[in-house]
Amino acid sequence: MQTVSVAVIPGDGIGIETVQAARRLLDRLAELDGGIKFAYTEFPWGCAYYTQHGEMAPKDFLSTLRSFETIMLGAVGYPGVPDHVSLWGLLLPIRRGFEQYVNMRPVRILRGVTSPLRGRNPGDVNFVVIRENTEGEYSSMGGRLHTGFPHEVVVQNTVFTRLGTERVIRYAYRLAAKAPRKRLCGATKSNGINWAMPFWDEVFNQIGETEFPEVERWLTHIDALAANFVLKPDVYDVVVASNLFGDILTDLGGAVMGSIGMAPSANINPERKYPSMFEPVHGSAPDIAGKGIANPVGQIWSSSMMLDHLGRQDLGEAVMTAVEDVLEEGRVRTPDLGGRSTTNEMVDAIIARLEARFR
Ligand code: NAD
Ligand code: IPM
Ligand code: MN
Repeated sequence: MQTVSVAVIPGDGIGIETVQAARRLLDRLAELDGGIKFAYTEFPWGCAYYTQHGEMAPKDFLSTLRSFETIMLGAVGYPGVPDHVSLWGLLLPIRRGFEQYVNMRPVRILRGVTSPLRGRNPGDVNFVVIRENTEGEYSSMGGRLHTGFPHEVVVQNTVFTRLGTERVIRYAYRLAAKAPRKRLCGATKSNGINWAMPFWDEVFNQIGETEFPEVERWLTHIDALAANFVLKPDVYDVVVASNLFGDILTDLGGAVMGSIGMAPSANINPERKYPSMFEPVHGSAPDIAGKGIANPVGQIWSSSMMLDHLGRQDLGEAVMTAVEDVLEEGRVRTPDLGGRSTTNEMVDAIIARLEARFR
């Protein structure tokens, strides 16, 4: 029996609802499989905790999390706490502290889903965005001077280290080398961002030329790339992007898939020195929080990526097949997909598919 210790951080808003949904599914899956068990420890950290304690989590939260095999997170941030305070108080220190420098975010039109892109059907769009997850535009370095004066100045630095740039680009090449068409597109903006992005391009080309000559590589400026996600999303296998570019591209990816409520993500420390973290791309969705209608698929797909990471690709695949079967049947859908079902009804339907498969 494989027992997996999971630190659970539901966080805020619909994060609490989608995490509960994914846990219910994982528990049933574990029962059905009989070979794996999840030992959860739930941490009540987030904006409600902040209101009580004046901080998003206890000061030693990283050392608490470190002993776990994996982390499952819902969403962080809610009106009442400034977003930069909530995110820099919990989510972003985990990604950085645990060197989760690969943020893997698949973009795939699932069976049964209608993409808002005309003529794009399931199977047409299937690629992965590899987002740099520890540096870049999210440096937290900068400053503010002469607050309130007409000559006020605010500076926010962008930091690209050679180590940080090489490791994420190399990871993306390795993935592209295994893809059917062996294609890697790099997101750049070397025309305007004249120190960081030419450096990014240089590393992209150097690694491609010397280590992965078999991979077809090209760079596209981020503005044009955003347009291409809409106009020709079928040309990509793997896209590698800096922290901010990857962030924006993957909400767009979620939209291409039919709802950002379905987009998954894995924050990976490839060396496995620290725990990796699995969370959907979306946020706490204050506009629908508490209503029980959040789409649970982003969280469930992220859990499927967690199963892959734990060496149980068979179970990860079983989960996604069940999700797609339910979407294809079309009877149970949350409102973001045009339906009227609740989060729980959707999870029940996915669980029923899994039960049928194991029977
Ligand atoms: P959001 O992703 O929370 O919501 C954007 C829109 O998408 C909303 O209309 C929402 O209802 C919809 N949506 C999102 N997830 C959905 C789901 N599962 N099912 C159905 N509809 C869904 O983005 P936002 O409004 O910019 O951010 C809200 C808060 O969440 C902010 O505090 C932000 O900083 C935070 N946030 C956190 C994370 C994270 O923890 N990883 C990610 C993004 C945003
Ligand atoms: C995401 C989110 C976060 C990010 C925010 C909440 C800091 O948008 O995970 O995509 O920008 O990384
Ligand atoms: Mn985002």
